[in-house]
Amino acid sequence: MKLIVLSDIHLTVEGRPIIGINPSERLDLALAHAGRHHPDAARYVLLGDLAHLGQNRAYRALAGRMNALGKPFTPMLGNHDNRENFRKAFPDAPDDGAGFVQSYLDTATDRLIFLDTLHPEATPHHSGHLCAARLGWLERALNGAGGRRISVFMHHPPLAVGFPGMDAIALANPADFWAIAKGKIAHLFCGHVHRTISGQTHGAGFSIFKSPAHQMPMDMTSADSALSVAEPGAYGIILLNDDAIIAHSEDFTLNLASESDPASA
Ligand SMILES: [Fe+2]
Repeated sequence: MKLIVLSDIHLTVEGRPIIGINPSERLDLALAHAGRHHPDAARYVLLGDLAHLGQNRAYRALAGRMNALGKPFTPMLGNHDNRENFRKAFPDAPDDGAGFVQSYLDTATDRLIFLDTLHPEATPHHSGHLCAARLGWLERALNGAGGRRISVFMHHPPLAVGFPGMDAIALANPADFWAIAKGKIAHLFCGHVHRTISGQTHGAGFSIFKSPAHQMPMDMTSADSALSVAEPGAYGIILLNDDAIIAHSEDFTLNLASESDPASA
């Protein structure tokens, strides 16, 4: 099964730019590129930070785009999102029974678990949190997987990745998460950092995806969590094969030009 991942879309209204980048244009380019190159994708996963300022109009614009694709998609929340406004535009979005946007999806071989780490009252602001209700739901989803290989999708990484500014606003209670999840997860997929990062933690592989819009600069000293750089926009491609889980990153803004050049193949 192939999944397309759009993380940190940060949609604004009226094309308002972020460091000179129009997130709306980037979303359109990403969807067009993915549609051309990956018509066999089974699902799109929107890995949180859907709307930069959590505005109704941004969610409505995103919903219009995604509904027009005609593909299944799983919208998730990040620290920039507003759960109430999101639900108005995505009334069919998952609900774990406690109001959180959490769900799981089973294939014959895999269980994909989608978590909601948005906590508007988080300290520090913009960090993520999994409360007892969400952790309880996660524990049931993990224990009910029936032997399937488990992948977990969550906006905030439950680990520090080496960027002091972003590490300060990662998931605020990673120990609570790992107390439940350790040894049960094959792979973890996160957003939030706006950078391609991979590795392994607590026995699980992990992949973090870039944004279609602005990226995190390679600065491992700054404590600023708002650093942004106009490196190429990207989306992720996940292959869930029988013998491996594979994560690709497609810098689609680099490849737009080469697509029109037949000699570049
Ligand atoms: Fe973001």
